[in-house]
Amino acid sequence: MSTVPQEARAAQTGRPMDRADARAKVTGAARYAAEYAPPGTVHAVLVGAGIAAGEVTGIDDREALRSEGVLAVLSHLNLPPLAAEPHLLPSIAGASASGQSFFPMRDARVHYAGQPVAMVVADTLERAGHAASLLRIGYRGEPHVTTLEEGRERAYEPDRILAGFLPGRLGRGDVEAGLAEADAVVETVHRMAANHHNPIETAAATAYWEDGRLTVHDSTQGPTATRLTVSELLGVPPSRVRVVATAVGGSFGSKAMIWAHPTLAAMAARHVRAPVRLVVTREQMFTACGHREEQEQRITLGARRDGTLTAIRHHKLSPTSPFDDWTEPSLEMPARMYACPNHEGVYRLFRANTMTPAFMRAPGEASGMFALETAMDKLASELGVDPVDLRLRNHCDTDPVSGLPWSSKGLRECYEHGAQMFGWRDRDPVPGTRTDGHWLVGTGMASAVYPVYQAMNPQRARVRLHADGRAVAETACAEFGTGVGAVMRQVAAAALGIDAEQVEARYGDTDLPTTVAAVGSAGAGAISSAVHTAATALREQMVERAVADPDSPLHGADPARVEVAGGRMFVRDGGGESYTELLRRHMMFDAEALGSWDPPRSDAGFAAATFGAQFAEVGVDPDLGLVRVRRMLGVFAPGRVLNAKTARSQLMGGMLWGLGHALLEATRMDPDSGRWANASMGEYLLPVNADAPEVRVEFVEAEDRMVNPLGVKGVGEVGVVGAAAAIANAVHHATGRRFRDLPITVEAVL
Ligand code: MOS
Repeated sequence: MSTVPQEARAAQTGRPMDRADARAKVTGAARYAAEYAPPGTVHAVLVGAGIAAGEVTGIDDREALRSEGVLAVLSHLNLPPLAAEPHLLPSIAGASASGQSFFPMRDARVHYAGQPVAMVVADTLERAGHAASLLRIGYRGEPHVTTLEEGRERAYEPDRILAGFLPGRLGRGDVEAGLAEADAVVETVHRMAANHHNPIETAAATAYWEDGRLTVHDSTQGPTATRLTVSELLGVPPSRVRVVATAVGGSFGSKAMIWAHPTLAAMAARHVRAPVRLVVTREQMFTACGHREEQEQRITLGARRDGTLTAIRHHKLSPTSPFDDWTEPSLEMPARMYACPNHEGVYRLFRANTMTPAFMRAPGEASGMFALETAMDKLASELGVDPVDLRLRNHCDTDPVSGLPWSSKGLRECYEHGAQMFGWRDRDPVPGTRTDGHWLVGTGMASAVYPVYQAMNPQRARVRLHADGRAVAETACAEFGTGVGAVMRQVAAAALGIDAEQVEARYGDTDLPTTVAAVGSAGAGAISSAVHTAATALREQMVERAVADPDSPLHGADPARVEVAGGRMFVRDGGGESYTELLRRHMMFDAEALGSWDPPRSDAGFAAATFGAQFAEVGVDPDLGLVRVRRMLGVFAPGRVLNAKTARSQLMGGMLWGLGHALLEATRMDPDSGRWANASMGEYLLPVNADAPEVRVEFVEAEDRMVNPLGVKGVGEVGVVGAAAAIANAVHHATGRRFRDLPITVEAVL
């Protein structure tokens, strides 16, 4: 096989490159799902239940239907039946997504406040909204449960969690024996508020039918998954369903699941025989697209005097919906973080009147590692061991759960480089000793970890090379701000031996080669593997054609000796020609290749995760209860970095989101009404520029030959993990007080 010289490849992958979608997004040229308006487009609005539990006793729609421009009122009384049971659809990683088991308006039952009970369609958005306000909906209410305090007594241990993916209990060794041999035992209890995804672009879909074919413009992380779900629910063959998601305005994981609205938009479009646009409002985002559940985690650590862990007991209590045993997997990665022989993890759930919680950026890892890493900090204080040294002492070279070797790790280097760059070793461990004016100043650190998920099916891409020397790389995957579009350009360029500026990326369309949804930080790994495979096949095809051509200077050359750089195929000390020359001579306008990459199977004999170390410095104003993060440093070992700019941005965004998790983000339930009390961006606090400290991201390059052809482990979520714990540990160092609950509010600090 031909090759691309190392320097030529390195000039493409690894370097910083702007996002493929950047210019279109910042200039307003990008078209989002709700910005497509085929002729005759009409508007649907959803009406949410006004009670948290009970049933709809009647819907009087007479006035609404008389209202100007109104085309239809749909509800459980007239919505056509689904062609498949939603909970059986494998829309995310081979299983049904959280919340997907419930599809609204199939019967009169109300499971949670805000649950869609009617959909009004009219010629304009305003008229649809007005008509929705004219509906008279009767309810029979029942008692509801929405908070930890109300549900604690009814908790049960689920057999399996997360749509059946994971067992409800995990463990190894003997925790009681481990605690008995410990010299120190710390136990902490953490209450964490519910969090909501708040991407700038809310969920939305525009659907239209043409000759029995359905097109849906959907704001999704997984166009292929949306196609599968909509096709099954409507009983339309997937070959007749096209899902387009070219511009997606963020997600935080809320668009990983396939919610009801693309299907509802398609149903409404069929009903009124016109294209339908359905936009989920900001307020509806708090009940329509998942959330991170309110939760309580209790963790007990046992350790010897030197810091060696002897036992970890980690229990979690959280609400789930009336119809799913779901909880974010908070105990899995903490169980795999340290070389501790005895571990016990137990999930407890109770049924609550909320929508099923869902994946939210670093789902489970962020909350579980907050508990573990703040408990580790407490243990370090009690033993008088430096927090970095405590972690190094418990470093694991193999995955403690499976016993398998890590595909690559790099964590020791993350701790060491991080400690050096942050100036950690100069720190006086005694809390409350450093001040800056009236600010108490402290520093803290924590470990970061996020698993490497592999797609369970082949990942495909197509690369086309035009005779002018430019190329196009195509996959169905969504670019929702991750940088995967730029990565596609770079990877295709590196494998073809051309410049990334010469490559265009096309994505976000099920007409393009099938890939997995961009979830679980697996996008860059899966997509780069597919594009690399396709572009390599195309290069090989070009070289084979050249060496077989009597008119080519490469005629008769051994393909293995042919190198490609700058769009030119050549042999060292010999002749060569460009792709362009070859294609033109052969009367070819273009050439293309499809690449298909089979991810390693789960029995491939290794464990894989991205590791990192987080450091934070905070100032605390004890009079005002303010916590200001002064600087953050994250050092990560994500395998190969394909794009220094987008990878850094992903990690920086994750760390800032960890800041939100630590200090600001909380959705508060009003237990009387069973409604979220602050369902708006005015009252759901997110970090803004004024909250953002200096955030430094550094990489430790750990070569990984196991996970995929380019050794990419993923950076999408690990930046969040450990960030909140580093901040909380810094607050303790500043004040001498431990704040165990999230977020750490002004009221708590006062
Ligand atoms: Mo991510 S929370 O897996 O979309």
